[in-house]
Amino acid sequence: MKVTVVGAGAVGASCAEYIAIKNFASEVVLLDIKEGYAEGKAMDLMQTSSLNGFDTKITGTTGDYSKTAGSDICVITSGIPRKPGMTREELIGINAGIVKSVSSSLIEHSPDTILVVVSNPMDTMTYLVHKTIALPKHRIIGMGGALDSARFKYRLAEALGAPISDVDGMVIGGHSDKGMVPLTRLATRNSVPVTQLMSEERLARVKEDTKVGGATLTKLLGTSAWYAPGAAVSGLVQAIACDQKKLFPCSILLEGEYGLNDLCIGVPVILGRNGIEEIVSIELNDDEKAHMQESAAGVSKTNGLLEL
Ligand code: 2OP
Repeated sequence: MKVTVVGAGAVGASCAEYIAIKNFASEVVLLDIKEGYAEGKAMDLMQTSSLNGFDTKITGTTGDYSKTAGSDICVITSGIPRKPGMTREELIGINAGIVKSVSSSLIEHSPDTILVVVSNPMDTMTYLVHKTIALPKHRIIGMGGALDSARFKYRLAEALGAPISDVDGMVIGGHSDKGMVPLTRLATRNSVPVTQLMSEERLARVKEDTKVGGATLTKLLGTSAWYAPGAAVSGLVQAIACDQKKLFPCSILLEGEYGLNDLCIGVPVILGRNGIEEIVSIELNDDEKAHMQESAAGVSKTNGLLEL
């Protein structure tokens, strides 16, 4: 199993690290345009292999896509991250050009690959990849919902004073501060609906804290986060590589599902060796449907800024 990660910045490197630590890939190629950077990160990570007990071989390359040839899965993290006070949508100008050229180069060398898009604004970049390269829709997956759901579970556990392993929950919709739709109604603590375990006000706070999860970290760190994004990507990559048939919310091209068309946005899917193996249709209530429509309108507006 060969995995390429484009972008050896904080998110890309942490993604490579988590993939390696989980020890399911034979090879990870890190690619960056900054001279020697990916090679350095790869070497540093390889020097942790005896300590962390993995056999995955990590190599780095400065922009040589021939080294990525035959990748089963490619992750695109390249582009600029947001700075404090910026929205993900503001990154579109620079990142669209980068994602376009990166996706074309990857597919040239790995025509059968499955692409995981992480660059922001993620839903729009996933849509752009669809428009740039003609791949079947089950092979282009936007990572956002897995990360937002992890942040949701963290906030739920915090509010409940519970161990995270007790908590389950999912965030669908767009990967943006306004567009996320945390499904509080369906969140549980060991099968008990969390709506029965905390006040409406506390749950509303969990929802808000989840939606600004990335922005809160950007303010604290001066740049966007990397551990949780890297771990979320590695979870998706592992589900595909190991044919786990796991359910994650991912940004995918919708063609009528959830009453939405011609955009990529987060909905629950089953991930396995073929990428998206099934789109899971869940019954939303009127409020959730309205939020999903609002979120979709926001994503479509950002898509409208693309020069296609
Ligand atoms: C985040 O939410 C990087 O968009 C990513 O942290």
